[in-house]
Order: sequence, then structure tokens, then C-alpha cells
Amino acid sequence: MLINTRERYGLIAQLFHWLTACLILILIPLGLFMVQLPINSTEEIGDKFWFYSLHKTLGIALFAVAGLRVIWAIFQPHPVLLNGESKLESLAAQTIHWTLYGSIILMPLTGWIHHSALEGFAPIWWPFAQDLPFIPKSLLLASISGTAHTFTAILLGISVVLHVGGASKHAVIDRDSTLARMVPCMVPTIPADLPKPHFRWLTVFLSGILFAFLGTAIGINTVVDGSGSEPNQIITENARNSENGWMVNHDKSTLAIEIVQSGTQVSGSFSNWNAKINFDAENLGGSYVVVDVDISSLTLDGISQQALSSNFLNAVSFPLSNFTSDEFIENEKGNYVAQGQLTLVGQTKPLSLPFSLKIENDRAFVRGQTVVQRLEFDIGKKGYSEGDQIGLEVLVKVKIEAEKIFR
Ligand code: HEM
Ligand code: HEM
Repeated sequence: MLINTRERYGLIAQLFHWLTACLILILIPLGLFMVQLPINSTEEIGDKFWFYSLHKTLGIALFAVAGLRVIWAIFQPHPVLLNGESKLESLAAQTIHWTLYGSIILMPLTGWIHHSALEGFAPIWWPFAQDLPFIPKSLLLASISGTAHTFTAILLGISVVLHVGGASKHAVIDRDSTLARMVPCMVPTIPADLPKPHFRWLTVFLSGILFAFLGTAIGINTVVDGSGSEPNQIITENARNSENGWMVNHDKSTLAIEIVQSGTQVSGSFSNWNAKINFDAENLGGSYVVVDVDISSLTLDGISQQALSSNFLNAVSFPLSNFTSDEFIENEKGNYVAQGQLTLVGQTKPLSLPFSLKIENDRAFVRGQTVVQRLEFDIGKKGYSEGDQIGLEVLVKVKIEAEKIFR
């Protein structure tokens, strides 16, 4: 029988169920496996790209299956629980069913948003668009959707364990036909006097609460790890103490980097940095800027750990980087070059940062970019000095929106 009845699942619902289950049971271990793959050679980088692409492609396939499954479930009668008389069990079973439905939509969606918000890296293997419409390239969005993907994976993982535990209990302890009626070709024995379904809306509500917890955890994580915007103490104090102080609006400011890895552009950003800005276009001699960067706050697509390791940014031994400039040259109206010193991985070298400045009322909009030659700082010197696997140039992009502080 193709369609559901009040007693059992039809073949279509069964096939949807087992296809989803197989894909999920492949995707979770695949995701956990691929994120910790090393990338110490061109072959390893290629392998990692390959597994990411495989994960994304299977994830998109699951998105399609999950979407069709949900649509099918909406128009189908819902088989009544066989142990409906045990109220606690049926409450738990139905709450988990809703949570599973929600997670199989949310998982691929957050994964795809994460993929769309970043440049390059491992493509989805299909001829259609790579990016979701209306999703901007944004490192903040990538970070939030990445956290949402991880946290939803935890919720999904726990739900699957409980769900499989419940199904096994029915098969082994209760010895009823709950499992049999989900398996094609098995003939379940269904009691004639099934109890009336109860708790339907309560279980939707309980599952909703689980998702509200999930949203709250993602929100808290975003604020605590600095992807959100907490006004920075040092900047605020400095700005208040200086005549021409500017307070950076971290919500609208980014410190991003771009590198080329095996011919593919990979972008990332620092979520924790301070900028003490004392700038007056009429008094360049008295202006200065000091930027402190928490190196460990770098997110660089799937290779953050590699970038922070001892052969590269060596975040453990050199957790802070600093750029200080008190020499500004005006090239043309609104375009300047800040000449200063960059301290990175314990070494200090001169660096020029060309930037444009636009001031509207009491807001300043700064856009700047410069190139850091990584070998000058011995970054990736061991095994990566040729630039064929990892480009020698690191593009640093600064976008600052700051508000003037009046004393
Ligand atoms: C791994 C991913 C899985 C997901 C996302 C999943 C999802 C779901 C969902 C949403 C339902 C409710 C269907 C409905 O009533 O509309 C369901 C039912 C069911 N699932 Fe799964 N499932 C998974 C794995 C499994 C596994 C591995 C088993 C077997 C050990 C299993 C056994 C069952 C059974 C027996 C039912 C029917 C429950 C009943 O009739 O009350 N599921 N599953
Ligand atoms: C139901 C479908 C999916 C499941 C169960 C799943 C599961 C996972 C798991 C368990 C991880 C490792 C944990 C983590 O670091 O976040 C992961 C990572 C990842 N997934 Fe998925 N995923 C799914 C769909 C997708 C899709 C559709 C995409 C993109 C189109 C995607 C892209 C990614 C990426 C880029 C990562 C690595 C994140 C990082 O490097 O931090 N996933 N996924």
C-alpha cells in the first residue's frame, strides 16, 4: 500500500523515512570526520575539499528528500501510536518526532547558508546555483550559521539516539509492531481498538521549546565568542579621553583576511580586536591609531586550526598582533595612507595601510586594504615557502564604522 492509513505507514512514507535516516546517519559522522582532517600537504588539502564537497552535496540531497517528506506527511493520515495508553512515552515519542522533522530541515538550511555566506572553498557538486538567494557574503552570518549548524547537529544527534532507543524498546521489550509498520514488506499486527491520539499540540509546543533553547544557545554563543557586538572597553575609554576620539561600532566593522589556497580564495576574519582611534583630518600630525588583534579569534573557513598552529600564526606563543601608526599622508581628498608598524608572530615590520575616509555627521566610514607578505613574518616557512599551496600574500581588509565621541 502506497499511502498511510490510521494503522500503518504506506510505502512512500516508509521509503522517505529510511532514505532520510540513511543520509543522516552518513552525514553526521562525515561532518565530524571532515572538520578534523589535517591539511599539511596539497594532497591533504585536496582530500579535505573533496570530503567537504561530498558532505555538502549529500546534505543538499537530504534537503530535497526532507522537504518532499514533510510535504507528503502534511497530506497523509498519521498512524496512531501503538502504545498510546502510556502517556509519558507517547508524549516523548511525538515531541522527538517533531524535533526530528524540524532538525532535518534546519540542518541543511544552516549548512547552505554557511556555504553561501562564504567565498569559494569546496563547491556543491551540482549544475545549479551554489548560493542561496538573498544571502549576503558576510563573515558574521557565516559564523552564526556555522554555530547554528553545529548546535542543531547536537540536537539532531540526541533526538536520533532517543528515537532509535524508543524504536528498539518497542521491538525488543514491548514486542509490538511499531518498528514492523515502518519497514516495507513486513506485516504488522495492529490491535483493533487503538486509543485516540492525544497531546498533539502539547508535543508541538514542547518541541518548539527545544528549538527556542537552541536559538538562545546560538545567540549566547554569538555574543560570548565576540561575533556579536559588545562595545569594547579600551576603545570606549580611549575615545572618551581623546579630543578626536572615535568609537568603533563593532556591529558594522570587520577585520578580514583573504588567502589563496591551492588556487581557491579562502576568506576569514578576526572577531576580537580593538582600535584606539584618534584622528583629525585637519591635524594629521596629532592623529594616531592603535589596533590590537586577538589572534586566536580568527575564523578562516575550515582551516582556522591550521592557521593558528605553530607553523603559521602561532597563536599560543604570540596571542596578540598590533598595528600602530602616527604618520598619515593624504593622497587626495578622503584618501589616506597610514604608515606604521605591524607586530605579528613576535616580529615587527613596517606596513602601509591605504584607506578611504568618509565622514557623515558624526559617523566615520573607513575602508582600507593592504597586503602582508607572510614570509616576512616567517608564517608557513616550514614546507609552505613556495606559495604554490598557500599564497605568499595575505590580503587584509579593514571596514570600520565609528561614531564620534564628544566630551
Ligand atoms: C536517523 C535519522 C532518523 C530520522 C530523522 C527519523 C525520523 C522519524 C520521524 C520524523 C518519524 C515520524 C514519522 C511520522 O509519524 O510522521 C519517524 C518514525 C519512526 N522511526 Fe525514525 N527516524 C530516523 C531513524 C530511525 C531509525 C534508525 C529507526 C529504527 C531503529 C527508526 C524507527 C522509526 C519508527 C519505528 C517510526 C514509527 C514510529 C511510530 O509508528 O510511532 N527511525 N522517524
Ligand atoms: C541534514 C544534513 C546535514 C547534517 C546532518 C550535517 C552534519 C554536520 C556535522 C555533524 C558537522 C560537523 C560539526 C561542525 O563542525 O559543525 C557538519 C559540518 C559542516 N557542514 Fe554539515 N550537515 C548537513 C548538511 C550540510 C549542508 C547542506 C551543507 C552545505 C551546503 C553543510 C556544510 C557543512 C560545513 C561547511 C561544515 C563545516 C563547518 C566548519 O568547518 O566549521 N552541511 N555538518
